[in-house]
Amino acid sequence: LASTEVDLSAIQPGQAIKTTFRSQPLFVRHLTEKEIAEADKVDASSLRDPQTLEERTVDGKKQWLVTMGVCTHLGCVPLGAGEGENRGEYGGYFCPCHGSSYDTAARIRKGPAPKNLEVPKFSFTSDTAILVG
Ligand code: FES
Repeated sequence: LASTEVDLSAIQPGQAIKTTFRSQPLFVRHLTEKEIAEADKVDASSLRDPQTLEERTVDGKKQWLVTMGVCTHLGCVPLGAGEGENRGEYGGYFCPCHGSSYDTAARIRKGPAPKNLEVPKFSFTSDTAILVG
């Protein structure tokens, strides 16, 4: 199956882009210090799908959150990967189909979705590029 290279150089802190990986939406988000702190202050063991931000990102590069843009409830594309879009009450992504709210680590916090947004396999090919898949 094909891999996808994503250029990170134009993605500013606080911004998320929507691209495509294997015909599905892929979100790439440059977290701000505040968004990282919000994700880190949560006790992961209290979550529906317990994972820390560290477990969902690459060592030393936890400002780069790479997830599928596919709600784990019934597969809608959540909002939040684009300027001015609704990111929901936990500041990550919001699925308008049935109201699932994801936090700044794209972990499910409220609503019917059972799992966090999936993190695909990816690696950094330089400081400003990743290869997904
Ligand atoms: Fe996202 Fe149902 S598909 S909340």
